[in-house]
Amino acid sequence: MNGVIDLIGNAGVLPVIALDSEEKAVPLAKALYSGGLPAIEVTLRTDCALNCIKRISEEYPETVVGAGTVLTVSQADEAVRAGAKFIVTPGFDETIARHCLDRGYLLMPGVSGVADVQKAYVMGFRTVKLFPCEPLGGLDYIKQVSGPFRGMRFVATGGITFDNVQSYLENGSVRAVGGSFIIPKKLLSEGRFSEISREVRASMAKILGFKLMHVGIHCENEQDAFRTAEWFSGLFGFCVADGQTVFSGTAVECMKAPYLGKKYHIGFRTVSAERAKFFFENMGIGTREYKYDGNGKMFSFYLDCVMKDFAVHVTYKPEEKS
Ligand code: 3PG
Repeated sequence: MNGVIDLIGNAGVLPVIALDSEEKAVPLAKALYSGGLPAIEVTLRTDCALNCIKRISEEYPETVVGAGTVLTVSQADEAVRAGAKFIVTPGFDETIARHCLDRGYLLMPGVSGVADVQKAYVMGFRTVKLFPCEPLGGLDYIKQVSGPFRGMRFVATGGITFDNVQSYLENGSVRAVGGSFIIPKKLLSEGRFSEISREVRASMAKILGFKLMHVGIHCENEQDAFRTAEWFSGLFGFCVADGQTVFSGTAVECMKAPYLGKKYHIGFRTVSAERAKFFFENMGIGTREYKYDGNGKMFSFYLDCVMKDFAVHVTYKPEEKS
C-alpha cells in the first residue's frame, strides 16, 4: 500500500491541469484541497509547469502534487527535484518505468492496451493510468482487462465527465478517475478561487451520489418495530419486510432496539462509502459504526454527529439504472 496512491483512491478524483500561470498554482491547490481534493496532477505541457509544482510543494505541502505528461527520464528527475510526489506518464515506457523504480520515484504509468498492462504488471505496478480511457472503450474496457490482471487498478483518465464519473467510481477496479473536468475553467481563468472551492465541493457531493434512502425509527423492541412498520404500510400501501430491522417499503426502517441514543436516523445512499467517509472527514466531520461486506469493503457508516435527534448514516447503494 502506498500512502499517496491510497489518498488519490480515497479522494476518487485526481484533477489534471495544464497551468499557464505560476501565480495560480498555490491558490488552485488550496481551493481544490478545501473542496475535497488533496492531490493534483500538474502536466508538463506548459513552460511554468515545473515552477508550479515547486511552489505547490513548498508553499502548500498539504496538497500532494504530481507531475503528468512526463515523456523522458530527465523530465522525471526534474519533476522530482521540483517537489513532485508522483510521476505520471501518458503511455507505458519501460525506460522511464525502470528509471523511476530504481530511484524510488512513485510512478503511475500510463497504459492503453493489454500489452502495456502486462508489462506494468510484471514490473510490479498495481495502479496504472488508463489513457485515453473513453476512446479505448471506457468502463467496458476496464471490466475486460481486469479479468486477467487480478489486483491491477486503474486511474481512468481521458474523457471522464460529470455524466460518466459515477459509474467509474462504482467499479472496484477503478482506483480513481483523473481529468480536467473537475476544474471550473472559467473561474480559474478569472482567479475566483473561493468559488472554485465551493464548486468543487458541490461537484464532489454530486459525484458521490448522495440521495435520501429512508428515515429510520429506533423502536423499543421487535414488536414495537413491527407495529410501527405496519402503521406506515397500512397508510401508504408499502410491503413490510423483516430482516435485522423491519422495513415499510424502502421509505421507513424500524430498528428493533434503541440505537446510538437517538430516536431516529436518516439514511443516505452513496456510490462509494469509503470515498464518502473521506469526503466528510475532509470537512472535519468524524465517522463511526463502519460496516464491511464479505470482501472487507466498507459499505456503511454513521456520521459522528446528530441533528435534531436524527443520527445520519451513509450507505453504498448502486446507482439505479433507468
Ligand atoms: C491527461 O493528460 O490526463 C488528459 O489530458 C486529461 O484528459 P481529460 O482532459 O479528457 O480529462
